[in-house]
Amino acid sequence: MWKKVLLWILLVLIVLVGGGVAFLYLRPPSQAPASAIKVAMTPQRIARGKYIFENLSDCDGCHSQRDFSRVGAPVVPSGRGRGNELSAQLKGLPGTVVAPNLTPDPETGLGKWTDGEKIRAIREGVDNTGRALFPMMPYPSYRNMSDEDVQSLVAYMNSLPPVRNPLPATKLDFPVGLFIKFVPAPAASVAPPDRSDRTRYGEYLATLGGCGDCHTPIEKGRPVVAKTLAGGRVFETPSGTVVSANITPDLETGIGKWSEEFFQKKFYDYREYAVSGPPPLPGPQAFTLMPWLGLSQWPPEDLGAIYAWLRTVKPVHNYVETHPGAPKP
Ligand code: HEC
Ligand code: HEC
Repeated sequence: MWKKVLLWILLVLIVLVGGGVAFLYLRPPSQAPASAIKVAMTPQRIARGKYIFENLSDCDGCHSQRDFSRVGAPVVPSGRGRGNELSAQLKGLPGTVVAPNLTPDPETGLGKWTDGEKIRAIREGVDNTGRALFPMMPYPSYRNMSDEDVQSLVAYMNSLPPVRNPLPATKLDFPVGLFIKFVPAPAASVAPPDRSDRTRYGEYLATLGGCGDCHTPIEKGRPVVAKTLAGGRVFETPSGTVVSANITPDLETGIGKWSEEFFQKKFYDYREYAVSGPPPLPGPQAFTLMPWLGLSQWPPEDLGAIYAWLRTVKPVHNYVETHPGAPKP
């Protein structure tokens, strides 16, 4: 008698779980139709888009060809936006993860996408067919990007020389591919940030700059909220290993003692390299994924705003060794 009941319970469970998985498989991510917008290709738009792509949001970091043998891993200009198989460059990703070709090449890039589909992918996280993008693509942050800024970005992407570069498709391990379907969501229209409020503007820049994405440690694929910006995320690559630094205002283990001037100088030390090309890496202690070269081109107002915002975040005591095992510089 009891055996029969147990069998029934088991059967019901199997049907429920199986049905749940099937539902997840078939369920499209939450999405709205792409807008019919055609962005204006004005010189101002393209210039602002170039700044966002290369300096502010470091789209380059994932989507462009880079030379990891040099300090700061500069972009190889002929491979700008051509895409990368990220899972071949970074350990620990759940499957084959590819940052696609964003150039207007019609076969291997975005040549056949509408501007509205590009904007939707960047801010809402679905591709032109409505498939959910793996959120390593920072669309959960980019949904805060202003309408003006995202249109500028698309104008710049449209102006890139097409590069033919066939890449494999992203293929995520089970069950990650199912869970990420809950991440995309339609975005509302976003007004430009108020630049007169320095701290709020700094928060906008930090969100688009992905500071929190890299500077917050990850456990089991999720950011550790209690250690937001406290560093400790490990990046293991064939070119070297680096751990992100604590950039909270903690006095001992963070950047609490840094003056604004010292903070800005840290970035501007890379200005020359960004302009005339950085030297080869002197050793593993200099390997980094911190986008110093791109960020060194920020105007002082923008770096100052980020500094002002970073002073307002919760200090977290967390000692980080950025280059474990490497000789001290
Ligand atoms: C940390 C790495 C990373 C950064 C930074 C990044 N992306 Fe991505 N991006 C990805 C990955 C990975 C995918 C593909 C995800 C997938 O296929 O599921 C992607 C997908 C896309 C797509 C969809 C393309 C397609 O063919 O499906 C667009 C458009 C895009 N990114 C634009 C941008 C722009 C513009 C920026 C800068 C504002 C940017 N990305 C910054 C990693 C990144
Ligand atoms: C792609 C990942 C990545 C992104 C994006 C990133 N960082 Fe970093 N950052 C690192 C790593 C790794 C280090 C440690 C190695 C080094 O100093 O180069 C670091 C170091 C730093 C340091 C030096 C701290 C010290 O104690 O020397 C500062 C300051 C910093 N980051 C600020 C920022 C800010 C501000 C942003 C956003 C605009 C940002 N980072 C975005 C990866 C990143």
